[in-house]
Amino acid sequence: MHTPPVVAATPPNALIPCFVLVLRKGLMRARLERRLEDFLMADHWVENHKRDSWRKQAKASGYRARSAFKLKQIQQRFNLVREGDFVLDVGCHPGGWAQVAVELVGQDGKVVGVDLQPCAPVEGAILLTGDITDPLTQERILEELGGDPLNVIVSDISPHITGKWDMDQSVAMTLVADVFDFALPLLKKGGGFTTKLFQGIGVEELIAAVRPHFSSVRRYSPDASRNSSSEVYLVCRHHTPWKAPKLSVRERYETAVNKLVGGEEIEEDPEPVASSFRVRRKKTDDGLEEH
Ligand SMILES: C[S@@+](CC[C@H](N)C(=O)[O-])C[C@H]1O[C@@H](n2cnc3c(N)ncnc32)[C@H](O)[C@@H]1O
Repeated sequence: MHTPPVVAATPPNALIPCFVLVLRKGLMRARLERRLEDFLMADHWVENHKRDSWRKQAKASGYRARSAFKLKQIQQRFNLVREGDFVLDVGCHPGGWAQVAVELVGQDGKVVGVDLQPCAPVEGAILLTGDITDPLTQERILEELGGDPLNVIVSDISPHITGKWDMDQSVAMTLVADVFDFALPLLKKGGGFTTKLFQGIGVEELIAAVRPHFSSVRRYSPDASRNSSSEVYLVCRHHTPWKAPKLSVRERYETAVNKLVGGEEIEEDPEPVASSFRVRRKKTDDGLEEH
């Protein structure tokens, strides 16, 4: 005899624990999301606050930009610039680093700055307007130095930012390599060089290209730039010109980066290869050839 299946009816109050569980999970997630949001907002607030605080300090100390504190902190840590030194300041606008450099070198030193943008005068510094990669600007820098070698090069150079991060970062790195190639021959044996770098592809390769020119190459994030996670300073000390490789910094850097991204495998002008492949042309109904 066929027995009808027993359908177990779920009593309505048996669903309550499931409902409570779902509700609790939802509440917990909402609470977690709110805490994460609060945390991120607090982090952002701390960053802005720090930036504002450096800006206020710069204003109070008579510096034109908060960036002045970055050079001050690099100096505090590495003692790069000394009294009487000759310093080249690359990418000097609006003049914060030039102000600090003038203080450090004193009466007997010399500070020559260069930037694409004209800079209001800084007492004790010679500030030129021009592109550091332009031979005419380079000529003017040499004229200002009057044949004297440099003790230190400080470069805070950063090209115009387009917002396309990969491209901006790669342009910035090549520019830094060019600055090294122009300025290294002007640097005294034992001299120092600090430059800003933007984190990303090629940083290790640039450091490797620069390393033979100095006996010490270090990365450093001054407190005043910690809120900008993308920037870091390279501090190179004790120039060793006798160890300089034959190839330029840019050549060595680009070769290494090409290897890294597989660029060397691409043939520039591949030879045409003879092929036995022939295109068959099929006649269509209307008599035209179809490819
Ligand atoms: C972050 S700012 C420098 C701030 C400066 N250290 C200070 O404390 O006032 C970077 C500068 O690099 C300059 N720059 C970018 N490309 C350059 C180039 N090819 N030649 C010279 N200056 C350049 C920009 O015009 C910009 O003013």
